[in-house]
Amino acid sequence: MKNDMNRVEPSEFVARPFAQFDKGWFLLTGGDFSAKWNTMTVSWGFAGTMWGKPVVAVVVRPTRYTREFLDARAEFTLSALPEKYKKALTICGTKSGRDCDKMALTGLTPVASETVKPPTFEEANLVLECRTLYRQPMTEASFIDRAPFEKWYSSADDLHIVYIAEVLAVRQAKC
Ligand SMILES: Cc1cc2nc3c(=O)[nH]c(=O)nc-3n(C[C@H](O)[C@H](O)[C@H](O)COP(=O)(O)O)c2cc1C
Repeated sequence: MKNDMNRVEPSEFVARPFAQFDKGWFLLTGGDFSAKWNTMTVSWGFAGTMWGKPVVAVVVRPTRYTREFLDARAEFTLSALPEKYKKALTICGTKSGRDCDKMALTGLTPVASETVKPPTFEEANLVLECRTLYRQPMTEASFIDRAPFEKWYSSADDLHIVYIAEVLAVRQAKC
């Protein structure tokens, strides 16, 4: 982790969550840095309060290799990178860690997190370290409006799994 990162209390954290997810994206990383881990790009998710805790939610399709790591260990990191790393994020969002070494392809530098086993990245300017509290596969019957189901899913087997996680630590680049 670069030295010019500040630890921020989640309650004091100032963010633009809609823009950050939709336009800035995150690397979602699961596993154990000292053993096996994987990362993928995500642009869907949200942040808020649940069960009296600061939480984030991410949604992961069952086919993603990263899902295996999220299911095996109840921890993940979300790492935002500056705009100049968009190509690296695109690679991590279009190739699977099953078939390639994403770090070799992108040149990104994984580094240990402070409170969880999955790594983050030296290039990150925002890091959320998270402990998973709740996992819920979406169901077709739960769509009150069927339009998103029709638009985004080819079959019910492809529905996202929702992971809601407590935010244990937030680090942000110093301005
Ligand atoms: C901008 C962008 C956003 C993405 N957001 C998500 C997401 O929120 N959830 C998801 O399951 N896949 C998302 N993906 C797709 C995965 O990142 C992609 O399938 C990736 O190759 C999975 O890697 P893995 O098999 O190594 O886990 C996104 C891809 C891109 C390019």
